[in-house]
Amino acid sequence: MSNLAVIGAQWGDEGKGKIVDLVSLHFDIVARYQGGHNAGHTVVIEGKSYILQLIPSGMFRGGKVGVIGNGVVIEPSALLAEMHKMENSGFSFEGRLHISDRAHLILPHHRWREQETEKTQKIGTTLRGIGPTYEDKAARKGYRISDLMQPDFRQRLESLYGDRADASEFISRTEEFRVKLAQYVCNCSSFLAEAIRQGKRLLFEGAQGTMLDVDHGTYPFVTSSSCAAGGISTGLGIGPKYIHRVLGVSKAYATRVGSGPFPSELQNEIGDTIRNRGREFGSITGRPRRCGWLDLVGLKYAAQINGMDAVCITKLDILDVFDEISVCIEYELDGERIQEFPASFQAVERIHPVWRTFPGWKCNTFALRKLNDLPVKARKYLDFVEEFIQVPVAMISTSPERDDTIFYPAFDTLS
Ligand code: IMP
Repeated sequence: MSNLAVIGAQWGDEGKGKIVDLVSLHFDIVARYQGGHNAGHTVVIEGKSYILQLIPSGMFRGGKVGVIGNGVVIEPSALLAEMHKMENSGFSFEGRLHISDRAHLILPHHRWREQETEKTQKIGTTLRGIGPTYEDKAARKGYRISDLMQPDFRQRLESLYGDRADASEFISRTEEFRVKLAQYVCNCSSFLAEAIRQGKRLLFEGAQGTMLDVDHGTYPFVTSSSCAAGGISTGLGIGPKYIHRVLGVSKAYATRVGSGPFPSELQNEIGDTIRNRGREFGSITGRPRRCGWLDLVGLKYAAQINGMDAVCITKLDILDVFDEISVCIEYELDGERIQEFPASFQAVERIHPVWRTFPGWKCNTFALRKLNDLPVKARKYLDFVEEFIQVPVAMISTSPERDDTIFYPAFDTLS
């Protein structure tokens, strides 16, 4: 099987965690290339739910190796807490986790700075210090895992923070962070290059989604990393030629957390029904997610940005109850029809969706596992999606459980 990227095709929370976990069976290494503990990837295995933020989702399968690449930003106490939780569930990381020595550290001042800027900028961030850490990286004043590994790091932090009491707990744990993480730290680019030479298969796990990508998303209401497939090469230190296939993941409807444009949002009873049925509340922050119909203009754009080979549609069953189901197929901007996502956020604020409406299937698709069991009306809905975005459907997810998944023939083209 070729190397595969699993990328969010919307505003994050598409259900990538389950998909990465499911397809990881076919791969040797699962690598995260961007984001940090702003992500919350839910994996349900035998009825037990795990939420992963920094640890690659596919690592739950025995024998898989996880990589946290240089493009990821790491808060060491968050990483250790997550590892600790998994170790308590009987999972061992020994020899199975590799953390890039070039990944940047989220330090207390990044969080403080974000708390300040959010008072005026109001992006609706996760307040984890993600943005300020990437800012410092670009401004060439960041701290990396390689700094944490130096014996003088504690002194450097002490002179950085002076006698600020709110940094003291972090500073006091510097040595613990170094000792506990040291065995996992490596040059991940070299590690992956050697794995590629040995014919190992790589699965690239995206966090957040294309519409939150710092370049291609709804700027400035985005995260600060390259969530789209383009980020894989820089975020892991591998050549782009090793990204063989791209699987985009999209819900059968749309959600967004935080502020920013969301053309197909439904601030009505339908939106509320989607939120309640889909349990659309942040897995980490608990924030209610904004809900709406599927935006096919956005999905087509995501297909283009990522070079998507196939799409996986998740949470189809949430739509089971609706008499009619709409999708956005165009926008209207100042009286004109447009087929592309405008760059200017002021323009995006003024656009109105143009809908195409389908009859709902009004029957249960929850936990279906066979293509033939899908109601005809649901098949028609999915056929329209694939025709519109010109990308074949490879998988349909019908519940959070690993095995409640329908495979389309296009899945085989990913191997
Ligand atoms: P940040 O990543 O914390 O800087 O937040 C920037 C924007 O990305 C905010 O709108 C967040 O709600 C959104 N965001 C960040 N991580 C996720 C995620 O994992 N799922 C969905 N939205 C996210």
